[in-house]
Amino acid sequence: MPEDAESPKLRSNRAALPHKVGYALRHPERVGPYLRRAGRDAWLRLTHPDHVGYYRAVMASDTRRDPQAAVGSRTHDRWLALGRMQFEYLVEHGLRPEHRMLDIGCGNLRGGWRFIDHLDTGHYYGIGISPDILIAAKRTVTEHGLQAKLPHLTLTGDLRLDFLPGDHFDVVHAHSVFSHSPLRVIDECLAHVGRVLTATGFFDFTFDRTEGAEHHVLREDFYYRTDTLLTLAAQRNLHARFMEDWERRPHGQSKIRVSRSPLPPRAA
Ligand SMILES: C[S@@+](CC[C@H](N)C(=O)[O-])C[C@H]1O[C@@H](n2cnc3c(N)ncnc32)[C@H](O)[C@@H]1O
Repeated sequence: MPEDAESPKLRSNRAALPHKVGYALRHPERVGPYLRRAGRDAWLRLTHPDHVGYYRAVMASDTRRDPQAAVGSRTHDRWLALGRMQFEYLVEHGLRPEHRMLDIGCGNLRGGWRFIDHLDTGHYYGIGISPDILIAAKRTVTEHGLQAKLPHLTLTGDLRLDFLPGDHFDVVHAHSVFSHSPLRVIDECLAHVGRVLTATGFFDFTFDRTEGAEHHVLREDFYYRTDTLLTLAAQRNLHARFMEDWERRPHGQSKIRVSRSPLPPRAA
């Protein structure tokens, strides 16, 4: 499901049979593509039992077809708009050129190229699990003439972040990554992100929110209750806040911010 689908942030349980039947009746033309995707995903799950290996294979297959669609945007205009939305939000929240930023699951730099452009040379660090999408990310750097900014683009197999220095990043960002992650991947990230954040830094991540039963679709799209993620962060000694102002943006996901130190009071 593309994240820029014009749908509300709170969705019904997409894994439930009544939802599937209703959806198929409303969109009969999408049944064939869904069945093909379900078949492909079943095969990839069989051949890649661990989640990261599985999702890497999904990204390889999606990127071969279209890197922009692989990160969730149906058209180039939506790709640009989704990147701008990420960028403008963080700039409104104080992202300055001298800050150091870690972009977890940076994809093909939909938001990343704007961050690279804005930040001082060498201050952008993008990581991801998919070699195919990182190659597409390098193309984005070239297309936008950002070589002189020397962005770091690094492949990782997990989110322990152990190859990165402690107390280093002012902003850590994961846009539309935890919407594709089982809880243990999110927990692994929350267990380690505090080490790489500065004392005043923060980590923003988006997620697909449900107020009903938590569920996933094809192990590609995961739906969580806000409390589940706030509790997980607290268990990792992080301060956490649901970002109300993100809810007003035309985007299908919600956002949580976590930090080592208490977050400043919300602006009135
Ligand atoms: C929907 S794309 C979003 C990309 C980018 N953040 C953006 O907004 O354009 C999800 C990205 O997260 C990456 N990803 C998924 N699971 C990950 C994980 N456990 N660790 C790091 N990256 C991951 C995928 O390879 C993919 O590039």
